[in-house]
Amino acid sequence: MEIVKYLINEFLEEYYFEVVLLIILSLIGSILTTNVITHFNSTLINAVQQKSMSDTILQFKYFVNSRVWMALFVYGYKLVQDVIMTNLKQWLRFNLIKITLKTNNENLSNINFTKLNTPINRLAETCYYFIGDALNYTLPYFMFVFVSVLYFLYQNTEIGIIFLIGNILWAILIYYVWPILRERNINYENNSIVIEQHLVENLNNVDKIVSRGQIEHETMIFDREKQETIDSHRNYYYSVSTTKFAIELITIVTMFVCVGYSIQLVYNGKLDTIQFVALFTLLMVFKERMNASASLISDAIEQLGRLEAIVDWFKPIENKMELLNRKYNQKDLPLEHIEFKDVSFSYNADSEPIFQNTNITVEMNNNKIIGITGQSGKGKSTFTKLLLKLYKIDGGTIKIDNENIEYIDPDYLRKHITYINQNSRLFDKTVLDNILYGCKDQNTCKEYYKQILQYPKIKELYQNVKLETDLAGYSGEKISGGQRQIANIISGLVNPSKILILDEPTNALDKELKMELLDIIRDFKPDKQCIFIITHDKDVYPLFDEQLKL
Ligand SMILES: Nc1ncnc2c1ncn2[C@@H]1O[C@H](COP(=O)(O)OP(=O)(O)O)[C@@H](O)[C@H]1O
Ligand SMILES: [Mg+2]
Repeated sequence: MEIVKYLINEFLEEYYFEVVLLIILSLIGSILTTNVITHFNSTLINAVQQKSMSDTILQFKYFVNSRVWMALFVYGYKLVQDVIMTNLKQWLRFNLIKITLKTNNENLSNINFTKLNTPINRLAETCYYFIGDALNYTLPYFMFVFVSVLYFLYQNTEIGIIFLIGNILWAILIYYVWPILRERNINYENNSIVIEQHLVENLNNVDKIVSRGQIEHETMIFDREKQETIDSHRNYYYSVSTTKFAIELITIVTMFVCVGYSIQLVYNGKLDTIQFVALFTLLMVFKERMNASASLISDAIEQLGRLEAIVDWFKPIENKMELLNRKYNQKDLPLEHIEFKDVSFSYNADSEPIFQNTNITVEMNNNKIIGITGQSGKGKSTFTKLLLKLYKIDGGTIKIDNENIEYIDPDYLRKHITYINQNSRLFDKTVLDNILYGCKDQNTCKEYYKQILQYPKIKELYQNVKLETDLAGYSGEKISGGQRQIANIISGLVNPSKILILDEPTNALDKELKMELLDIIRDFKPDKQCIFIITHDKDVYPLFDEQLKL
């Protein structure tokens, strides 16, 4: 739930003014209802009863005025509410997207990010209802009870105390039944999930179920799950309804006692009729609101249950929340010297380590091309990913120019060290936009891009594609694999960063295109402080000034 707490805190901080305004307005609204509206109601009733025409007209004017002003006030209150609520939904989604990206800045979670789409939307929606209910119903309701208690106490201490006790009673009731309701709700939600998962499993294996004659068997399981879901559902709603009924009982008993006591006070001459009618009206309003508010309890419980189920998806993110406010040393580095010292790393706690107390030093200078070679799966790509802080090491240190990269801003590293994996998917933008993605200096990048497109094989490769207008399609499937691969490599070459890392750039390219690509890399060599090429393609080896074998 840490992510939910974080969101609520951030929201309250950002919308501090609006929320405080809403609290104040809600307080004023309650004061107006309790003091002004009930007062003019009762004075009017009283005047009519007295059959005094002039007084009745005067009281009617007050009555009309108070109602019109109240309507205007409610309108203003609604406007403030609308400001908050319309912002809230988008604000929540935006912040969840921001949190997801930022918490993955240094240590990519090993999850399928596409699958986060639904949880992000559901979490945003559930938080929206949760905060919305709190601000729009729970808050005004509590304000109303609070002001009513004060009003009753002010009118008559005994009635005030009776009213207060009535309210304390239902609060105690909720305190006791809350855990039971929660448990029943969780039970019901879990049963719903079981049946949903079973359904997905079945739909994935319909052919098997049919061919193995298991329709009857599976249907029976569904039938049992259905019954369990119905039972748990009923269990939950029975207890909700019973709780609501108990609250209603407490409310009406409170009302009866207050009204009865007021009648006695009227007969004893301690309360006048106007006061009595005012108290009576207010008790009616209280009863109405109480009924409406009782539903809030079941809503809140359901929202909490849903939140708990969804936040499970965000566990990997919740573990990295401190990254949201991380500050780094802002220091310019020559980026010349890499040192891996006793570095240990594995992707998962239970998988084989890729590096174990590994020591590597590399000098990135003199426009060198360094080949990173070694068998598949040895950790060549991982080496560069660790260098760029895409993952956190389990032990040892990685230093660049003697600075521990732990304290270096990852954005700084990635601005100056461009890592290109030719397998990267593309955005559904134009090919040119894909090539220029992440480029810090558009003019320079475009200049280089034009140069590269002069190479005959590259030109031929893209002869069917309008690079500046054709969209690459969802993840780039509208262009060929080779076109995608070269687009990624060009994207790295044109970016005027000091260091370039090309991960297996020549894989699956035909010989002529490959040779031309090697020419291009050679041509770019003077512009780069250092180029790393991860490869096991022997044709690339002549380009190397040095070789780092993993
Ligand atoms: N995101 C990942 N999650 C889990 N294991 C991974 C991940 N990326 C790579 N690996 C594993 O780590 C090992 C090293 O991968 P990699 O650095 O890509 O090797 P190389 O580039 O040398 O072929 C491989 O066994 C690979 O399966
Ligand atoms: Mg690799």
